[in-house]
Amino acid sequence: MTKLAIIGGTGLDKIPDLEITHREVSHTPFGEPSATLTHGIFGSTEVIFLPRHGPSHTIPPHRVNYRANLWALKHIGVEAVIAIAAVGGITRDMGPGQIVVPDQIIDYTYGREHTLFEYDLDQVTHIDFTNPYCEPLRKALIEAGEEVSAPLTTRGTYGATQGPRLETAMEIHRLEQDGCDIVGMTGMPEASLAKELDLCYACCAVVANWAAGKSDDPISMEAIEKNLKTGMSDVNRLVARLLQHY
Ligand code: HPA
Repeated sequence: MTKLAIIGGTGLDKIPDLEITHREVSHTPFGEPSATLTHGIFGSTEVIFLPRHGPSHTIPPHRVNYRANLWALKHIGVEAVIAIAAVGGITRDMGPGQIVVPDQIIDYTYGREHTLFEYDLDQVTHIDFTNPYCEPLRKALIEAGEEVSAPLTTRGTYGATQGPRLETAMEIHRLEQDGCDIVGMTGMPEASLAKELDLCYACCAVVANWAAGKSDDPISMEAIEKNLKTGMSDVNRLVARLLQHY
């Protein structure tokens, strides 16, 4: 059976229905992961859970040690990773509460440790990143989402911004013109590091708010929290379903 990990995002620092079996401290050549790796049973399937922002949600997006997180998962034999992420919605159908399984990425981040292929190389190494996400895992997420009747969008381009601030209205306008449907702060370099490590990686994004300038209402943290609560309960149902036949 494929060994599966879930990287939790804002609003999903824990999996409510995960029966924890043990926790594993991990040290990597790239430093410490965001938290201990939590091993557990979800439904009847073994999974490993790692909260991206740390156990108490204190690590901002640009400070997440993405290299250590992905390396630690690979090192313990993980083959597939579901990345849960909170995002802002840009295009028409991407309203708050929507669950999006993106199929493309545009990377606007900078200054992050973004590759494992840096030192001690036999030769310069490039990865094919034409399709940034693992299609079989995307399909499994979509099927599970349909089965639990989640408010699902089955494709979209994820614009990865630096954070931790939200964007200006004009930045979002530019992202939209570039072709982005959703915007988040953690999608990169997580996806490309997963690819470098040959992990099957897909994203399940929860729209927390309309992105800057896309609604007449100001973006409020209270509204974001409320939308995430609903969205994350949908994600929980979706992932539980996926694990039933993964
Ligand atoms: N922008 C970037 N990241 C986000 C947003 C947003 O509007 N909402 C949740 N994560």
